[in-house]
Amino acid sequence: MTEEIVVIPGDGIGQEVVPAAVDVLDAVADFEFVKAEAGDHVLESTGEALPEETYDLAAGADATLFGAAGESAADVILPLREAVGSFANIRPARAYPGVDALRPETDLVFVRENTEGVYSGIESEIADGVTTLTRVITEDASRRIAEYGFEYAEANGYDDVTLAHKANVMRVTDGQFLDAARAVGDDRGVDYDDALMDALAMHLLLRPEEYGVVICPNLAGDMLSDLAAGLVGGLGLLPSANVGDDNALFEPVHGSAPDIAGEGIANPAATILSAAMLLEHLGYGEEATSVRTAVESVLESGPRTPDLGGSASTEDVTAAIVDEL
Ligand code: NAI
Ligand code: MG
Repeated sequence: MTEEIVVIPGDGIGQEVVPAAVDVLDAVADFEFVKAEAGDHVLESTGEALPEETYDLAAGADATLFGAAGESAADVILPLREAVGSFANIRPARAYPGVDALRPETDLVFVRENTEGVYSGIESEIADGVTTLTRVITEDASRRIAEYGFEYAEANGYDDVTLAHKANVMRVTDGQFLDAARAVGDDRGVDYDDALMDALAMHLLLRPEEYGVVICPNLAGDMLSDLAAGLVGGLGLLPSANVGDDNALFEPVHGSAPDIAGEGIANPAATILSAAMLLEHLGYGEEATSVRTAVESVLESGPRTPDLGGSASTEDVTAAIVDEL
């Protein structure tokens, strides 16, 4: 069977790093790539940032690889996550040998609930100058993300699982999240901890080596994973997966980087590592490991892009990774 991968480069450096990741996938697997459009440049020409055709292609694919959108990002990525039925956003943040990191001992994976919390979209202005937001936390979604997180920790050899919450203040909603997640941990008979998310932010900064998998409600996962990006040497290195029951979308955590777009110097590592997550997800475990090993080797010995202190181009780095493979 040849899997169909929908490829959406999007805007800015998405146009540079996605082709790089496709070159790497081509070197290790035999996929059929279907290119689709989304982002600011499509919004300008058609009035829609995410054409229905792209939504349908992603919904029907075996997996999607997305680069980044510019100002229209929320109108592109939120519906795309919905198109693939994603409930879990997986964001590994690892320091690599040879890369200058604030905390070289960091090896964290954020498992972030992707459908509710304060990103419920239920916002309104109830009176002039008075606005409200409804934070939705359900037992089902909390249990589902906790099951995914505990399973991920076991499958990937992480001993430490932490449940991030603020149940001392948001007693009903985060109380619900914490009760449901604890029940999953207790049923599995494994050790885990929970932590108040504000204190956790400080502990992650000071002692990241004490943490492994962090299971989070939506906003906490978004913020804590960006904090972790700062620990390991920047956005050019962070991949992510948006996983559903039978479809998934993979993307770098970074955006379209308009400050360097078109210069050919974007770091392709985040997108290539996202492609490794795609391989893993589709059952190509060995190929995923080879891609990660090749990226690690090039990060350690070069060539490196300017964000990591080098002077190489996106193409040089990609060619070196393909050579390693
Ligand atoms: P950004 O991630 O695009 O850039 C932040 C900084 O990191 C910039 O200095 C950029 O040059 C650098 N950087 C990011 N990725 C890099 C890479 N691969 N190699 C080397 N340097 C890299 O975030 P920013 O500047 O906040 O947003 C720019 C645009 O991207 C905005 O229009 C925003 O809406 C959009 N965005 C889209 C996202 C998405 O599509 N998922 C996510 C975040 C932002
Ligand atoms: Mg974010």
